[in-house]
Amino acid sequence: PRSIFMSRHGESQFNVDGQIGGDSLLSPRGEQYATALPLLVEKNLGERDLTIWTSTLRRTIQTARHLKYPKLTWKSLDELDAGVCDGMTYEEIEKAYPDDFANRDEDKFNYRYRGGESYRDVVVRLEPVIMELERQENILIIGHQAIIRCLYAYFHDLPQADLPYLKIPLHTVIKLTPKAYGCDEERYQLPI
Ligand code: F6P
Repeated sequence: PRSIFMSRHGESQFNVDGQIGGDSLLSPRGEQYATALPLLVEKNLGERDLTIWTSTLRRTIQTARHLKYPKLTWKSLDELDAGVCDGMTYEEIEKAYPDDFANRDEDKFNYRYRGGESYRDVVVRLEPVIMELERQENILIIGHQAIIRCLYAYFHDLPQADLPYLKIPLHTVIKLTPKAYGCDEERYQLPI
């Protein structure tokens, strides 16, 4: 049966510094993940055909770069746009926009960053990606936290309100295998 594989990009410099959004490069740990990925993928996919989908952001492209499979970049896979808060830490956001920070906490799925997006917006822009995913064979998506949350919730049919809180750890490949009802899941975590 075909499977959908998904992973966040390797740890980025912004992850290390606690900044959100941006287009930073991988940290040294993130680079280690990128280097280790080909073996993990080979071990768990064997000889199966695979296509890699990344976003247009450098951290996903860098993470995928040692994988010797056909690749496609999707603008629709870019991380949730934090608008005026792009590049800030959560602490800085709380200081600069205390009301927004509280509103996001109140209804994280619907909260839209000023000049940016909400999780609801992201779910809508992922529709074409999901349609294409449904038609394809084995795909590995190297994505971002909010994006993987939305895709994961779609395949497991999880409630929208829970989706923004799903734990999607770094340096872990999640394998989803659709069945008649729901999906089987396996996770491969690299100790990096
Ligand atoms: O911190 C990494 C990150 O991918 C940010 O770029 C993004 O804004 C955030 O996670 C999304 O997570 P949350 O919705 O929990 O803030």
